[in-house]
Amino acid sequence: MRTNPEAGLWLFTATQNTSGSRAVQFIRTIPDRENRAACAWCARGIEWSAHCDKPMTPPGAHTPEHAAMNAQTAVRTDDPTPPVMSMRAVSKIYRMGEIDVPALRAVDLELHAREFVVILGASGSGKSTLLNILGGLETPTTGTVRYLDHELTAADEPSLTRYRREHVGFVFQFYNLLPSLTALENVELVAQIAPRARDAREVLERVGLADRLHHFPAQLSGGEQQRVAIARALAKRPDVLLCDEPTGSLDFPTGRRVLAALEQANREFSTLTVLITHNAAIAAMGSRVIRLSSGRISQTQVNERRASAEEISW
Ligand SMILES: Nc1ncnc2c1ncn2[C@@H]1O[C@H](COP(=O)(O)OP(=O)(O)OP(=O)(O)O)[C@@H](O)[C@H]1O
Ligand SMILES: [Mg+2]
Repeated sequence: MRTNPEAGLWLFTATQNTSGSRAVQFIRTIPDRENRAACAWCARGIEWSAHCDKPMTPPGAHTPEHAAMNAQTAVRTDDPTPPVMSMRAVSKIYRMGEIDVPALRAVDLELHAREFVVILGASGSGKSTLLNILGGLETPTTGTVRYLDHELTAADEPSLTRYRREHVGFVFQFYNLLPSLTALENVELVAQIAPRARDAREVLERVGLADRLHHFPAQLSGGEQQRVAIARALAKRPDVLLCDEPTGSLDFPTGRRVLAALEQANREFSTLTVLITHNAAIAAMGSRVIRLSSGRISQTQVNERRASAEEISW
């Protein structure tokens, strides 16, 4: 459970499973100024004094029994370091003619340096929309998105372009390499647009492609092409690496090799990594797993022990 001056009181429950990982279930955000709250245990609405403008003293509960249960299950999710990125009450509604398609509904999220966050969810649950908003490729309909001290939702287009160019690495399901350039040249292109670029050759070596530098994309396997795309993203020295289904078109051994490259980059470069997948097996690799359903965060799980790419299978 935690309080936040902007968003009010956030309520969570936590359970410990047999493998030692902790499942943290987000219940709801309670605006401070609202004269209603929810019991953190059963989520039923409870009233608190209409005359009191102080934040409710946690844990809010229907009964003393529920208060005791809340005290056992409430966890602090605060990370003392300021987040690299944050979202507050972010919603995205696509307008299709006369119809509104809600893709995200009131999403609150903080992402910290060095995290490896896996976002899971069914098709259409809003995963790509969330990632595209974090990457400055799309803007939310309502809510705020921050990158360090910058409010992306208040930024003009040139500032957003600079943000994407200098601070964000993207890896998509389809590799988007330039077919007429070699692996090395594809990665070297980044040095021309990013001011703090890493050495292209060195990054390609880090993802295990030292012997493929001069191959054209058509001369590389799918997994190798994806590793070139990862090297290209990492060459920017990004503060956040956003990966949308990076193993979506790869078979299991190749996908695992790509995940190992992402895991290594997260460890060696300390790059905050957000990975979208609908493959639940990959969740074990995350330091945190966020489940999206119908545009909402339905569950957050902290893995106290992260599985290596070698340990997972599907
Ligand atoms: N440009 C768009 N215009 C209209 N609706 C859109 C657009 N992009 C996404 N949507 C809708 O928003 C919802 C969320 O889409 P999103 O692509 O974020 O889902 P997803 O979780 O990434 O799905 P998938 O696993 O299939 O990639 C879906 O209902 C989708 O149809
Ligand atoms: Mg998607």
